[in-house]
Amino acid sequence: MLAEILPEVSDAQLERFFQVMLTQYGMDFREYAPASLKRRIGSVMRRYGLTDADTLIQRLVTQPEYFERFLNEITVSTTELFRDPSMWVALRVQVLPQFVSLPQLRIWQAGVSTGEEALSLAILLSETGLYEKAQIIATDIDKRSLEQAAKVSYPLRQRALYEQNFYAVLPGVPFSRYAEEKEGQLVFDPQLLRNVQFLPHNLVMDSPFGQFELVMCRNVLIYFTPSLQDRVVTKLVDSLVPGGVLVIGTKESLFWCQAAKRLTGVNEAERIYRKRA
Ligand SMILES: C[S@@+](CC[C@H](N)C(=O)[O-])C[C@H]1O[C@@H](n2cnc3c(N)ncnc32)[C@H](O)[C@@H]1O
Repeated sequence: MLAEILPEVSDAQLERFFQVMLTQYGMDFREYAPASLKRRIGSVMRRYGLTDADTLIQRLVTQPEYFERFLNEITVSTTELFRDPSMWVALRVQVLPQFVSLPQLRIWQAGVSTGEEALSLAILLSETGLYEKAQIIATDIDKRSLEQAAKVSYPLRQRALYEQNFYAVLPGVPFSRYAEEKEGQLVFDPQLLRNVQFLPHNLVMDSPFGQFELVMCRNVLIYFTPSLQDRVVTKLVDSLVPGGVLVIGTKESLFWCQAAKRLTGVNEAERIYRKRA
């Protein structure tokens, strides 16, 4: 396959981009991995027929109403229902039983994108009898993705994949218990969101906001430099009660993170860790 040719973004332009995002919108992108950030800016430029990154930067300076749309376009929102099914099976078998005796179950899902991850968890908790005592805070930097998440409605073309992942995690449970086709969309039962709150939260800039038995932050760290990963993982681990469980993405690693010393592996292949007591 031919490599995509995208408009170039120079280091100086990237610096100017960082300054505008920081001073005008309070968003710090300085420690996002630069190569992938440049690629994503380039792909937004191509979509808008722009050849010079300065034009894009100028647009961000003069058109604040463009910012949310732009943020939605440069953040990678790729996600799936029960993405990486073997992790969800491990969560069901190796982690959820420890929550059965607890009076409440507080969960933070950071970088939840368009909400499929929150729905996956809500379904799994429903099937294991844990849903009623659960409170799920599902956050993302991108408000547009969170608005999408609240609709519980997805393009029908996702159905085959979502159904396949669902059955890999919950064999024998009918998919139709939770989702149906409506007006050309795949629509999930809105009742699944009874105990889910979607909130904007920036992992780089905002403080952690509570203590949780389970924190999931999957496929987000991968976009950060090692030193930012270290700081963000510290926030995630600080947010866990002793014995609480952290899940990161299967392609991610805690290699650079000081806070890894405060964790032990539950299932390292699936990137599931427990905070030491
Ligand atoms: C690839 S998606 C991962 C979605 C889901 N966690 C999964 O694994 O399927 C990455 C998400 O991280 C979010 N994100 C990027 N930077 C962030 C930040 N600083 N704070 C919070 N979320 C962020 C993006 O908006 C995007 O929704």
